[in-house]
Amino acid sequence: MWGPEGLDEVEAELLGPPEELKGRAVLEIGAGAAQCARWLAAQGALPVALDISHRQLQHALRIGGPFPLVCADAGALPFADESFDLACSAYGALPFVADPVLVLKEVRRVLRPGGRFVFSVTHPIRWAFPDEPGPEGLTVSSSYFDRTPYVEQDEQGRAVYVEHHRTLGDRVRDVVAGGFRLVDLVEPQWPSWNSSEWGGWSPLRGNLIPGTAVFVCERD
Ligand SMILES: C[S@@+](CC[C@H](N)C(=O)[O-])C[C@H]1O[C@@H](n2cnc3c(N)ncnc32)[C@H](O)[C@@H]1O
Repeated sequence: MWGPEGLDEVEAELLGPPEELKGRAVLEIGAGAAQCARWLAAQGALPVALDISHRQLQHALRIGGPFPLVCADAGALPFADESFDLACSAYGALPFVADPVLVLKEVRRVLRPGGRFVFSVTHPIRWAFPDEPGPEGLTVSSSYFDRTPYVEQDEQGRAVYVEHHRTLGDRVRDVVAGGFRLVDLVEPQWPSWNSSEWGGWSPLRGNLIPGTAVFVCERD
């Protein structure tokens, strides 16, 4: 699943036709509980699920799956050059790092020539709107161009949650600077069957503005 709209890989085929995933080595970045790796393994692919959070990987372990889990930072991948055919990330790592080009360069390094990296992030336009599912989430409240990160701190003033904003142009330049060719940029429309509200996500907002941007990139 690429995002809260509900666009799934069976429908989107952004990593290629499912029948061609069989036997391919796929790196999932920012895997969380490794939902994508689990689906990939069911297609016959050979996924590796990577996340910086040990706790997230404990959830992945509890749910289970026939693939390795790796606790590491997406900006310092513990793999040899050209070890994967494909890489994917659904809202993993890239929205949360200050230096997305570093991550993209690392992913490029571990992909074989011609390999695809497909990643989804919050659509940059969302930055300008309050993160509310109702009508209050439809009025611009801050500048789309303000790259100051969103930071939540604990009582000691330590950052416990950070989100970095990149404009759409920034993201395209990052992809190119990371050594990729941008093949497609998918902005999933909110489907009529999806009536769920989740955080700032809702049919009301989803019918009017995009919520997710999926970048389909290829290593030249
Ligand atoms: C919003 S969750 C998405 C999880 C999963 N992909 C999904 O679709 O549910 C973001 C994940 O990225 C991970 N993450 C954040 N920064 C990371 C980094 N620098 N390296 C690796 N993983 C990271 C977080 O620990 C978290 O599990």
